[in-house]
Amino acid sequence: MATTTKTSATASNRSNTAVAKTTGNKENSATERSDSTGPLKKFFIDGLKDLLWAEEKLVEALQKMEDSATTTELKDAFSDHQTQTQTHVKRLQRVFRMMGEEPSTKRCEAMAGLIKEAEHIIQSTPEGSMTRDAALIIAAQKVEHYEIASYGGLIQIALTLDEDKAAYVLNKTIEEEEQTDEDLTYIAESFINFSAGEEDEADSNEDEGAENEEA
Ligand SMILES: [Fe+2]
Ligand SMILES: [Fe+2]
Repeated sequence: MATTTKTSATASNRSNTAVAKTTGNKENSATERSDSTGPLKKFFIDGLKDLLWAEEKLVEALQKMEDSATTTELKDAFSDHQTQTQTHVKRLQRVFRMMGEEPSTKRCEAMAGLIKEAEHIIQSTPEGSMTRDAALIIAAQKVEHYEIASYGGLIQIALTLDEDKAAYVLNKTIEEEEQTDEDLTYIAESFINFSAGEEDEADSNEDEGAENEEA
């Protein structure tokens, strides 16, 4: 977990430096835009479509994760990030318009798989257990890392295309993804993982028994 945080922080520093350096060098960059129509611009727009699909699905998934989490701390973390994710959707829509495109989506298979994994965790861990929270945190961090990798790559491409304003907007989102990743690490390490480790087989068996009776 600690390694995870360190990696994200490094990525953040790299992208912040790149955006700051570029925007600092070009006073008028906010109003400048390349008229590139090459394959890299097409790839950039495709990346935006992929991320918009992912962020829209995450708004729904985070609600389910909040409802399924055991502790108030994790429920609050999911709730806060759901609100941020709604802003991420709006920012992506703005970036589309900056690029002269109408916002649209393309199914992101990677995010669909990560959301499916989170749903499987909810089904396979006992309701009300700390083990569920420990597992949900890992599922959420996999999502954050996918987003960080995607936004990080698109920011660099935006800078390459001289789309500095788009890079600036995307950078605001990556900072929130990185902070969320760090917050989740903190919650896991402060008490959830330890409490999950204290849970014994009986807790799970009781829940399984209850599930079987319901079935
Ligand atoms: Fe996001
Ligand atoms: Fe996120």
